[in-house]
Amino acid sequence: MSQYWSPIVSRLAPYVAGEQPRIQNLVKLNTNENPYGPSPRAVAAIQAAAGDALRLYPDPSATALREAIAKRFGVDADQVFVGNGSDEVLAHTFQALLKHDKPLLYPDITYSFYPTYSRLYDIDVVEIPLDEGFRIKISDYDRPCGAIIIPNPNAPTGIGLAIAEIEALVSGHPDVPVVVDEAYIDFGGETAANLIVRYPNLLVVQTLSKSRSLAGMRVGFALGQRHLIDALERVKDSFNSYPLDRLAQVAATAAIEDVEWFEICRQKIIATRDRLSDELLAMGFDVLPSQANFVFARHPALSGAEVYSALRAKGVLVRHWNKPRIADYLRISIGTDAECDQLLEVLKSLPAAS
Ligand SMILES: Cc1ncc(COP(=O)(O)O)c(C=O)c1O
Repeated sequence: MSQYWSPIVSRLAPYVAGEQPRIQNLVKLNTNENPYGPSPRAVAAIQAAAGDALRLYPDPSATALREAIAKRFGVDADQVFVGNGSDEVLAHTFQALLKHDKPLLYPDITYSFYPTYSRLYDIDVVEIPLDEGFRIKISDYDRPCGAIIIPNPNAPTGIGLAIAEIEALVSGHPDVPVVVDEAYIDFGGETAANLIVRYPNLLVVQTLSKSRSLAGMRVGFALGQRHLIDALERVKDSFNSYPLDRLAQVAATAAIEDVEWFEICRQKIIATRDRLSDELLAMGFDVLPSQANFVFARHPALSGAEVYSALRAKGVLVRHWNKPRIADYLRISIGTDAECDQLLEVLKSLPAAS
């Protein structure tokens, strides 16, 4: 029945999200969700907003939320763009800022939505290989291009770049937009948000799905100088005037303001990640140094697919990609200490673990 489709639909390569299975007692370490709940202030704000006012459209510019984000990052509210998850912010970014005559550059191993958006918007790309240690080498980006996007830390490797390297990348390409996707920055990296005042080509994208535990509300944002935000707003207002509903706006505002909750949860995740990394290393795993809320690790003997299946059979779900270079690695989201212990127990029971 695809004769009814617009021609582009057959050419799309849709993103495949991690499973959300309905299995009881599953240890779900496959989509980088936060194991701790959102700020109680965010939940209270949702409850307070869940009333008669829902018959009214929400604020199309999410003013209170943008002001809260601006205050937190020391920028002006008109330097903040918000969207329905950072995926939507990224989608608008690809359309508004990353399509040029020269190619868009991004790493060959990275967030798999980048190729999907490039296909959707028909953007010419060149994928820049990570080095042999799975690192982004910024000198490899010294080539003619129309734009650059990288995650910092990168996904699914978890490896971060120092802020000086990010600045070198941004300052080294003054004529093209450089987008830094900081979905995981709060777990050990340093944000480039402070650089936006100095660099008219820098856009920083963040999400409330990970460090603020609001994946279910779908809120992300971008920080940049006014001309970049203006481009995003033009695309957004040609697409959906109300991407953030009333509940999402109040929840996100409260979550941004509750710095104490944010600090406690992210520190717990960092501590569990470092312990899990050490235990995996002690078992002979190859573990990439992670600054994110996940680790990317390879069993010393078994294939990625074998370990993935063995874990799944015991009710532990992690993420595995059957792709060149990374097929033997698993991306393990950081859960609670108890969840990570369950994972380790299954791994220790595998035949070839030393
Ligand atoms: C690198 C990266 N960017 C962006 C996102 C999107 O997050 P969200 O749409 O939940 O804000 C993800 C989600 O996994 C990610 O890994």
